[in-house]
Amino acid sequence: LKQVTPLEMGIKYFEMYPEDKEPVWQDPCVYKRHLQIWSANKSCDRLPKFLVVGPQKTGTTALYKFLQIHPAILANYNSPDTFEEVQFFNGNNYHKGIDWYMEFFPVPATLPLISYPAKRAYSWYQHMQAHGDHIAGNYTFHEIITAPDSAPRKVRELRNRSLIPGIYVQHLQKWLEFFPSRQIFIIDGGRLKSNPVAVMHNVQRFLHIEPHYDYNDYLRFDSKKGFFCQVSSTNKSDCLGRSKGRHYPPMNETSVEFLKQFYRKNNVALSKLLSKHKYRIPDWLETELSD
Ligand code: A3P
Repeated sequence: LKQVTPLEMGIKYFEMYPEDKEPVWQDPCVYKRHLQIWSANKSCDRLPKFLVVGPQKTGTTALYKFLQIHPAILANYNSPDTFEEVQFFNGNNYHKGIDWYMEFFPVPATLPLISYPAKRAYSWYQHMQAHGDHIAGNYTFHEIITAPDSAPRKVRELRNRSLIPGIYVQHLQKWLEFFPSRQIFIIDGGRLKSNPVAVMHNVQRFLHIEPHYDYNDYLRFDSKKGFFCQVSSTNKSDCLGRSKGRHYPPMNETSVEFLKQFYRKNNVALSKLLSKHKYRIPDWLETELSD
């Protein structure tokens, strides 16, 4: 029998089982064994009670801001790099561990957002252009979304990042593998834009938030912005920044048609998945499928 230091043991272990290098963090508060070895200074109350899940350009910032109005809801601190999004589950930050993640929450659940995928793709393209993305600046939206597999890598990357996040059925299926549908409240991004008061009413009911806030008192349509904005203490409109709710020309008809075809199969599957789990079909999906 040979004795080695814990560090040596760790190195040896990962040499033998390289697939284990990818950690799978679990909620320490659910697993008794984890809880026993967890520092007494840490509290389960620090982990979030609910998550908002949605790709870029589905209205996540608006929802974040509206939720913050409610005194019973505390949001995560902003990250210096990614602002209101912690971006823990989707990249390298995941390797920093659960303690790193917990630091984003002041004190003590899932809200996925799905908006019309074609609009999301177009909004995302506008976002990339506004951020000075070289490829988005040199190729039209139509060229990007219809780029063939023989196109340069960077163009294909942009095409994929524009199209794939809108395949909501794939993402939702994964969430439903691990969480029962009663724990997942789905928000129609289009409704969040057109009727945030009703959406916030339903979100509060789902989360059992008390006291119940009537968002009619806190949100008002701002005709200059073209969106609902928060009403400030001096009765002014406190709208989201310029990068949210941009003004750009409508999508051209050929792109509209292309995207309709592109998303059709997935949208049919999405509608079946939503019906199976007794979710309301979003307005955009209803329209899309009746076409
Ligand atoms: P556009 O700027 O293309 O219109 P996210 O914050 O997830 O990146 O989403 C940005 C989108 O949120 C905006 O895309 C806009 O359509 C939508 N949105 C929804 N409600 C809004 C609001 N009250 N004010 C501004 N943008 C809002």
